[in-house]
Amino acid sequence: STGVARASDGAVTVAGVGVRAFADEHGTPAYVLDESDLRARARGYRRAFETAFAEIGAGVDVYYAGKAFLSVAVARWVHEEGLRVDTATGGELAVALRAGIPGADIGLHGNNKSDAEIARALDAGVGRIIVDSLVEIDRVADAVAARGGDPAPVMVRVTTGVHAGGHEYISTAHEDQKFGLSIASPDGDSPAMLGLLAVLARPELRLLGIHSHIGSQILDPSGFEVAARAVLTLRAQLAERTGVLVDEVDLGGGYGIAYLPGEVALDPDRIAKDVAASVQATAAELGTPLPRFSIEPGRAIVGPAGLTLYTVGTVKPVRIDDGSVRTYVSIDGGMSDNIRPALYGASYHAEVVGRLSDAPTVLARVVGKHCESGDIVVHEVQLPADVRAGDLLAVAATGAYGRSMASNYNHVPRPPVVAVADGASRVLVRRETEDDLLALDLG
Ligand code: LLP
Repeated sequence: STGVARASDGAVTVAGVGVRAFADEHGTPAYVLDESDLRARARGYRRAFETAFAEIGAGVDVYYAGKAFLSVAVARWVHEEGLRVDTATGGELAVALRAGIPGADIGLHGNNKSDAEIARALDAGVGRIIVDSLVEIDRVADAVAARGGDPAPVMVRVTTGVHAGGHEYISTAHEDQKFGLSIASPDGDSPAMLGLLAVLARPELRLLGIHSHIGSQILDPSGFEVAARAVLTLRAQLAERTGVLVDEVDLGGGYGIAYLPGEVALDPDRIAKDVAASVQATAAELGTPLPRFSIEPGRAIVGPAGLTLYTVGTVKPVRIDDGSVRTYVSIDGGMSDNIRPALYGASYHAEVVGRLSDAPTVLARVVGKHCESGDIVVHEVQLPADVRAGDLLAVAATGAYGRSMASNYNHVPRPPVVAVADGASRVLVRRETEDDLLALDLG
C-alpha cells in the first residue's frame, strides 16, 4: 500500500516525506501521490494479466484509465511501466500527448465525442477510437472520408446487461443508461450487432474489436467473467454472420479497491487468473481462437496511491437525534476536492497525522468548508477526543476521482497534486490561485 509510516512520536511520513514538513512546504489541502506505490500497482496489473493470459496463449494490453487522475507525469509513469493510456475526452488526450505518449498507445472513449475531438484523435494517430453509437460510427467514418488517409481503428462499445459496481451512477453496462450498444436482441439484430455491421460497412473504418466496461469499484469478480463470455459470444456470432473474426476484446476497468481499514481490494493476480480461465473455456466452447485482450483499470492504479492532507480548522460537538454527541471536525477543503461522499455516499477513512494522541477516541464526522450540510468528507470515523485546530488530517485512498472530479465550488482554488518519492516531494499539478479563478471572470 501507500508508503505511509508512523513513528513512535506520531510523526507520519509518506514515501519518506514527513507530513508536517510537507504541509509547511506545500500547504493544505493537498493531494499526496506516492510515485512508487502507483508504479507498483501499474506493474502489478500488467504482470498479473500478462502472466495469466500468457498461460492461455493470449496477449493482453493494459490501458490506464486517465479519468481516474491524469497529469503529464502520471501518464509518463504508467507508460514507463508498460501501460497504454485510455482517454475519455480531448482534454485527457491533450495531456497524454503532452506527456509524449505515442498515439498508437492511446485510446479515445466518450459517448459524445465532438468533431474536434475526433479530428484530434485522427491527427494523433490514436491506436483506437471506441465508438459508442451508430451516429458516432458515421461521424468518425465521415471525418476520415473528408481528410483521407488510413482507415481509423475502432472498437465498438457494447453493453452486456451485467450490472456491477459500487453505485448506480458508476454502473455502466445495465440496459437503461447511456453507454454502448446493447447485445440484447428482443427482435432481430441487437444494437451491438448493428454497430459492428455498420463499422464493417464503412471502408474508412477498421474494426479492431469489441469493448465492454461493466462498472466501477467492483468487488465481486463474477461480473467480469459473465461479461467476457457475452462479448466472446457476440464476436463468434459476428464471425458466423460475416466471416470477420475480430482480433481484439477489451474487458474495461472497474477493479475495486479498499477505502476503509479491513476492506479487501480485488487481487489482480486472482482476477486475471479467473478471467483468463473463463475466456479460455468460452472460446473453446465457441470453437473460436482467442483474441488479444485489453483492460482499462483506473482507480486500482491511482486510488490507493493517493491521500489528501487537510488542516483542521474548527471542532464542534453537536448533539444528534439519539441524544449522543457527534464531533464535527471542519477541514480546509471538502466537497470541492472530494465529491465522492456527497455524490455516491462513498466512505473514507481519516486519521490525525503528525502527532500522537493518547486521548480516547470520539465519534467524529469530517466536514468541509463549503456552504451546505452535505459537504461531508468522512461520515463516521473515530478520532482522538483532543482533535483540535491546526491538526493535520489525512484521508486515505483519494488518488482516484478526487482531483479529477474537483470543482471550484465557492470559488475555492483546487489543491495541488504533489508526488512523493524517496524522501522528496515534487509538485505535479500546482495549486490554483485566486488569480487563476479571477482571470476567467471577464467582468
Ligand atoms: N474504462 C471505461 C470505459 C470506463 O468508463 C471507466 C470508468 C474505466 C475504464 C475505469 O474504471 P475504474 O477502473 O477506474 O473503475 N467517478 C466515479 C467512477 C466513474 C468511472 C467511470 N468509468 C467514482 O468516483 O467512483
